[in-house]
Amino acid sequence: MNRRTLAVVSAGLSQPSSTRLLADQLAAATRDELARRGTEVEIRTVDLREHAHDIVNHLLTGFPSATLREAIEAVTGADGLIAVTPIFSASYNGLFKSFFDVVDDQALVDRPVLIGATGGTARHSLALEHAVRPLFGYLRAVVVPTAVYAAPEDWSGGAADDALRRRILRAGAELAEQVDRRPPSAGPADPFALTADFADLLGRTRPAAS
Ligand SMILES: Cc1cc2nc3c(=O)[nH]c(=O)nc-3n(C[C@H](O)[C@H](O)[C@H](O)COP(=O)(O)O)c2cc1C
Repeated sequence: MNRRTLAVVSAGLSQPSSTRLLADQLAAATRDELARRGTEVEIRTVDLREHAHDIVNHLLTGFPSATLREAIEAVTGADGLIAVTPIFSASYNGLFKSFFDVVDDQALVDRPVLIGATGGTARHSLALEHAVRPLFGYLRAVVVPTAVYAAPEDWSGGAADDALRRRILRAGAELAEQVDRRPPSAGPADPFALTADFADLLGRTRPAAS
């Protein structure tokens, strides 16, 4: 059986969090579609509220804590990414943006991404298109066409209603398709990897012949 990894980033602040609930359902839909295609999926969930202080420290010092580095590597090394934010002031929240500010801006190039958001009003659903999608466009990720927004009226008794459920299944199938058509990820980039030819490096440091 093929194996793939899926990173799930949730920027919800509440506990319990509707953002996390949506993220988990998007992950389950993607996993089920990949399983149908004969691919087993390992899901790595990154709940950003657990890393909030470390993210600010990273922004201030330029260095991640060990646990934040692990979370970043879970995201940069995955075959696919599900990124879900609550909408604050008609955009992604600050925690979501700050996390992706500390991810290397080359690390998600060509990575399949499914974006989702929760909000207090359905009127802000297009924040996914005018704020979240352009962020991943800048990172040159491949964002699937269906972005999933959930307003309070889309949940009935804590479960997604039929229309939200259909959007979740469609988005999960689109992400599964993108993950399936790519080779497995080589994992997170090695920060100590040589970016120049070793002989060139030796040549550059050798003193000039007299
Ligand atoms: C500071 C703040 C600003 C918010 N701004 C918006 C907004 O502009 N549009 C909207 O639809 N909801 C807004 N909300 C509501 C949250 O998006 C909504 O409650 C969200 O689903 C919370 O997610 P959680 O349950 O994962 O914490 C705001 C909430 C907070 C705390």
